[in-house]
Amino acid sequence: MSNIGEQEILNIGKVLNDPTRPMKERFRALFTLRNLGGETAIKCISECFTDESVLLKHELAYCLGQMLDKRAIPVLRSVLEDNKQDPIVRHEAGEALGAIGDPNLRELLEKYQYDPSIEVAETCQIALQRLNWVANDGASEKLSKSPYSSIDPAPPSGENNVATLSKTLMDETKPLYERYRAMFSLRNMATDDSIKALGEGLKASSALFRHEVAFVFGQMQDERSIPFLKKALEDTAEHEMVRHEAAEALGSIATDECTEILKRYLNDPRPVVRESCEVALDMSEYENSPEFQYANTLFAVKAEA
Ligand SMILES: [Fe+2]
Ligand SMILES: [Fe+2]
Repeated sequence: MSNIGEQEILNIGKVLNDPTRPMKERFRALFTLRNLGGETAIKCISECFTDESVLLKHELAYCLGQMLDKRAIPVLRSVLEDNKQDPIVRHEAGEALGAIGDPNLRELLEKYQYDPSIEVAETCQIALQRLNWVANDGASEKLSKSPYSSIDPAPPSGENNVATLSKTLMDETKPLYERYRAMFSLRNMATDDSIKALGEGLKASSALFRHEVAFVFGQMQDERSIPFLKKALEDTAEHEMVRHEAAEALGSIATDECTEILKRYLNDPRPVVRESCEVALDMSEYENSPEFQYANTLFAVKAEA
């Protein structure tokens, strides 16, 4: 994408940073910037952390992490350190720093592994263990290959027996990092049994863990997970981070049933949930259309110019 000029990137940044635009357009702009990468894209994304939408800001952090660009470290660090940011946003900043995986971040993550927000604390604990893994046995371990391009917060487990993995997944005495490893192995398997086991994971005590299960279902885009996701979104007592992830997962599975469920929560009292449903319905529209690219703001700003 080297033929894209600075000005075009800035124009996409304007779409992202424009609070009068519909959330779905701003999301498409964000993903376009993520795919383009580079210093200007990072700058445009960073500027948006003053926005009001928790949903958008947590996604900014997620995208910065997935770009694996060390130039994003200072802004992610300041978001993690900012107690006025919502824990969902700070969690995503911590996870993004873990994804970038710079060993110099150890001290920072060690500090926040005891954060009063449990989502933030747990995220930093997992990120620290991933740093250790990268530094020690990361390269030598023989693990199942992820069919997804994402950088996961933990590698898959070395175990490949579904029953053993399910047991680890639900073992509340085990560190979350180990349970995450079981989760990613079960995702990579994508069998009836592994999906059922993951669905059970939505009963775990940690909200962070449950939100990751829903996220993983979104990656899998497998209709067999719909009943679990539906239950999570419909449960108004469930943590909004989990309901948000369930909504977006339903959007990426994109069957008629998913659309029907999502439409019902477009007016949810929680902004994170209703915005997720709006974005999710846009994603499912894309999944069901012959459109070439979801992250298509580049073409849109060209057309507007
Ligand atoms: Fe998250
Ligand atoms: Fe999320």
